[in-house]
Amino acid sequence: MNEVRPPQPEEIGAAVRQVLGDSLGYLYPAALRVAVRLGLPDLLLSGPQSAEQLAKTVGADAPSLYRVLRFLATRGLFREDEAGAFHLTPAAHVLRSDVPYSVRSTALLLTDRMYWESTGRLEQTVRDGRTAFDGIFGAPLFDHLAAVPEDAETFNRGIADLSVIEQGGIADSYAFPAEGTVVDVGGGPGGFLRTVLTRHPGLRGVLYEQASVLAGHELDDPAIEGRWETAEGDFFSTAPGGGDLYVLKRVLHDWDDEHCLRILRAVREAMPEHARLLIVDAVVPAGNDPHPGKLYDIAMMTIFDGKERTEPEFDALLAATGLRRTRTVPTPGTVSIVEAVRA
Ligand SMILES: C[S@@+](CC[C@H](N)C(=O)[O-])C[C@H]1O[C@@H](n2cnc3c(N)ncnc32)[C@H](O)[C@@H]1O
Repeated sequence: MNEVRPPQPEEIGAAVRQVLGDSLGYLYPAALRVAVRLGLPDLLLSGPQSAEQLAKTVGADAPSLYRVLRFLATRGLFREDEAGAFHLTPAAHVLRSDVPYSVRSTALLLTDRMYWESTGRLEQTVRDGRTAFDGIFGAPLFDHLAAVPEDAETFNRGIADLSVIEQGGIADSYAFPAEGTVVDVGGGPGGFLRTVLTRHPGLRGVLYEQASVLAGHELDDPAIEGRWETAEGDFFSTAPGGGDLYVLKRVLHDWDDEHCLRILRAVREAMPEHARLLIVDAVVPAGNDPHPGKLYDIAMMTIFDGKERTEPEFDALLAATGLRRTRTVPTPGTVSIVEAVRA
C-alpha cells in the first residue's frame, strides 16, 4: 500500500518557499523579454552601465528598469557591481543580436504572445486535451502563421536561431554517407540541410517545405552550389521520392499522433527500399529527473496539439506506419536522432 507521508515540520518552510517562488516563475520570462526587447545585451557590449544610463538610451523609466535588472541579476542574466553598473554575463551574451550563437530571436519567440497567451490557458488544455491556441488566435498555429506575416517572421526567425545553435552538433553526431540525397521534410528555411551539405561535399539535398517558407530559404551558399533543390508540398500527403536519407527535424513534436501517422506514412511511401529516416526530436526519458524535453513538451501542448515523445512512443508510431527504429543517437543538445528504416 502507498503510504502518504506528511512533511516533517523542518521541511515545510522550504516547501512553501519553493511553491510560492514557482508560482511567480512567470515573472522571469516576462523580465527577460523586457531586457531583450529593449536591446540591453547589445547596449552593454560597450561596457557596464547603470539602469539610469540604460533607461536614458532606450527611453524607459529608470527606477522600474533598475528593479527588473536587479531581479534578472538574481538569475545570472546581467551582474550588478558595487557601483550599481550592470555587466554582461554568458547568459546575456547569448541574447546579443550580433553573435553566431545568438538565441535572441528564439527567446523572443518563446516569450511571444503566441506562447504566452496559450500558456495562460493551460488548465483548459489539460481539461479538454486541446491546445488553447486555436481558440485564442482563430486558427491552428501554421494556418495562423500563413495569414499573419508578422507572427510568421517571429516564428521562423526563432526556429532558425535555435536551428543554428544545434545543427552543427546534430550533423556531427550522425555518420552521414559520403554520397546520396538528403530530403529534409519540413526543413524550415534550410539551415540544417545547408550545414549537412557543407560538411559532406558528396551529398545532394532537397528542402521540402511550404511555399511561404521556401520563399525565404537560406540555401544560396557557394559552398553547396548546384547540390540542392527545393520542393513545395504538404507533408501530410506526400514527400519527394528518390532520397537516401529523410530527415524530420523538430517536426513530429508539433503534431498529435494522428497527424504524425500521416506524415510518417507519406515519408515511408516516398522512401526507396534502402533509405533511412532520421527523426530529430527530444526523446523524453523515464523518471523524475529534469529534461528539456519535459519542459518543451508543455509548450508543445499549449501552442500545438503536439508532444515530446518517449522512445516507446516513437516505436509505436513507426510500427504503425511500416517502419522500424534501428537505433537512437544522442546529440550534444536537447534532441536525439531516432534512426528508422522500412520494416
Ligand atoms: C518547428 S518547424 C521545424 C523546421 C526545421 N526542421 C528545424 O528543425 O528548424 C516545422 C516546419 O514544418 C513546416 N510545415 C508545417 N506544416 C507543413 C506541411 N503541411 N507540409 C510541409 N511542411 C510543413 C513548417 O513550415 C515549419 O518550417
